[in-house]
Amino acid sequence: MFLVAGARPNFVKIAPLVEAFERAAPRDRLEVRLVNTGQHYDPLMAGSFFEELGIREPDVDLGVGSGTHAEQTARILVAFERLLVEERPRLVVVVGDVNSTLACALAAAKLGIDIAHVEAGLRSRDRSMPEEINRIVTDALSSLCFTTCVEASENLAHEGIATDRIFFVGNVMIDTLLRSRDRARPPASLATVGLRPREYALITLHRAGNVDRPVEAGRVVAAAERAAARLPLVFPMHPRTRQMLERHGLLARLLAVASAHLVEPLPYLEFLYVMDRARVVLTDSGGIQEETSVLGVPCLTLRQNTERPITIEQGTNRLVGLEPDNVAAALDEVLAAPMPRARPLPLWDGRAAERIADITVRHYGVHTAETGMSR
Ligand code: UD1
Repeated sequence: MFLVAGARPNFVKIAPLVEAFERAAPRDRLEVRLVNTGQHYDPLMAGSFFEELGIREPDVDLGVGSGTHAEQTARILVAFERLLVEERPRLVVVVGDVNSTLACALAAAKLGIDIAHVEAGLRSRDRSMPEEINRIVTDALSSLCFTTCVEASENLAHEGIATDRIFFVGNVMIDTLLRSRDRARPPASLATVGLRPREYALITLHRAGNVDRPVEAGRVVAAAERAAARLPLVFPMHPRTRQMLERHGLLARLLAVASAHLVEPLPYLEFLYVMDRARVVLTDSGGIQEETSVLGVPCLTLRQNTERPITIEQGTNRLVGLEPDNVAAALDEVLAAPMPRARPLPLWDGRAAERIADITVRHYGVHTAETGMSR
């Protein structure tokens, strides 16, 4: 089988899967080939995650890099199809909702190779998000859909996906968080800033809808300024965001705010350290909405919708949109309230990858010595 990753959040998700698959099915029975598409290639967006999370070297690196959606998807399709034709795996496991997820699923489906999708069924119901398209298509093509919550399983059932293909297993991103929390370490790039636990805010922004056009980018920068007026603000900046803010003439404005600490994207263990101790997190990331829920850190999501409504039901996350006034008002409410209590979510217990591996091995590939039959 192939296990595919390509972009930063994928690496966090595959770390426990590589281990769980290799434990559940020894190499001579179900060989796990690790494929990196290379959608993300900067050391801080990719390599550091392999090192810190102990992910072994990929068996194949497609090295596709950046481009428009069509260019990037097409490059992955061509390179991955070639690989599939050469190696003919029985199963391709894809994670998340990035372009690599969609492209690899599509290439496999056209060759009649089964697909398992980890983190299936999440829906923002906003098709202007490229990720939403990636989710819908990938789920439609997958033989096994592994979900993080009951609601995601229900979404799939409503779309007509047979319930015997849907498995609620928990959250692999949280597997990684729980096993890494004790190893988190303070960021080297913030060493001179002197941040105190629960006395700063953390912000991350990178969604195309928030940073690519000047109007939205202007709003999120204004929101960041309003936050930095209330408490020190740590801003690890995604390369896309840096590029766009620079293009829109907004980067200099943020750099001029003394209480806003702009740094390069942080390695996983450093980001976890900063997130775990923040007073509040402002973000447009999906994964961070989930991680703050588990950590019990208030999260303000700078979007109009979320594919992860469970984080809102949980009480830690709130959708605030992009209007600076609304963000500032929500921030004031959060700062006036005590820190929320972290409450465990069903099956977000650190064992999702194990469940996925067990179910997959039951479906595919284990040729048992005793019976000589596949089960
Ligand atoms: C991608 C995912 C998004 C995910 C995010 C996490 C898609 C459609 N989007 O968005 O769902 O939340 O990853 O980071 O797949 N760049 C670099 N170095 C890198 C990677 C990217 O400089 O290593 C720059 C390039 O200018 C590139 C831009 O960032 O054009 C965007 O990269 P891309 O992979 O297209 O999408 P992300 O915004 O990273």
